[in-house]
Amino acid sequence: MSKKNRKKRILSGMRPTGKMHLGNFVGALENWVELQNSNKYKNYHLIADYHVLTTDTNSDHILDNTLDMISDWLAVGIDPEKSPIFRQSQIKEHTELHLILSMLITKARLERNPTLKEQLKDLNMDNVTYGHLGYPVLQAADIMLYRGEVVPVGEDQAPHVEITREIARRFNKTYGKVFPVPKTKLTNFARLPGLDRKKMSKSIGNTIMISDPKEEIQKKMMKAITDPQKIRLHDPGRPEVCLVFTYHQKFNPDEEEEIAKNCRSGDLGCVECKKRCAAAINEFLDPFREKRNYYAENKDEVLDIIRDGEKRAREVARETMEKVHNAMKIG
Ligand code: TRP
Repeated sequence: MSKKNRKKRILSGMRPTGKMHLGNFVGALENWVELQNSNKYKNYHLIADYHVLTTDTNSDHILDNTLDMISDWLAVGIDPEKSPIFRQSQIKEHTELHLILSMLITKARLERNPTLKEQLKDLNMDNVTYGHLGYPVLQAADIMLYRGEVVPVGEDQAPHVEITREIARRFNKTYGKVFPVPKTKLTNFARLPGLDRKKMSKSIGNTIMISDPKEEIQKKMMKAITDPQKIRLHDPGRPEVCLVFTYHQKFNPDEEEEIAKNCRSGDLGCVECKKRCAAAINEFLDPFREKRNYYAENKDEVLDIIRDGEKRAREVARETMEKVHNAMKIG
């Protein structure tokens, strides 16, 4: 195949955080499905299960969280035939390449990583483990092992891709050209806020989950924050400050205009507006539900799908390590 027609390789990764919420969907999954269906890319989907250990050494929930997360990925349309899904921990080449790459970046450079600084602050940690400092080096190995050319990430992960680029250049300069220098593809939709308008996050409890039953979504929506100045039914409201309106824009675009107009005029009350919003989200999630329930009840099948992805990913990983060893003249 000529170089022009070849599909570019994308490496998408996520830590196994369990069931996915609408923020994950809008910030990442929706994007991945679109890239996959464009047929311009070959997508590799990495489950960063070793990365979990950098901030929490308890490994009891990693596998369960992985299966929950992947059930949602499959439900929303990630096609594991086209795009292998695999765990970092099951492909030994990740740790192998990580070791080699760790010699190609200084400790000072890793200490300047803004994402690390923020994490340490959030977690109230005043010291950092060797492994946590090396987080971006493991991520570089994740990307480079599949000779990834494009990495779709949110803004917080952009510094890690930048470090990957530096390491890839450094390897090529030291041993000869093996790796493409990957490009960051920033996911462009501003993150969908949670029901309290803060960042949607499971630990805050302000989420709508892809797997939430209909009634649960109706109930949660009633608690969502609207325009604080709209107190009575016929008070005029301001859609631009209303969280529920943000959800309408995303999940109910056909009615967006009419809702904005009737909110402003005071004809549409918040309770009615929320009911319509919950109905729209439910309708949006409906096509995913059957698959989601199926995988929830057939976890073995999910694991089989991952293991199959691992077989295919492993072949590419082995090929890359052979190139690495040859370039280093130690093969
Ligand atoms: N660090 C990423 C996150 O926390 C997860 C990740 C690990 C990743 N390896 C990756 C993302 C490789 C993209 C490419 O979200």
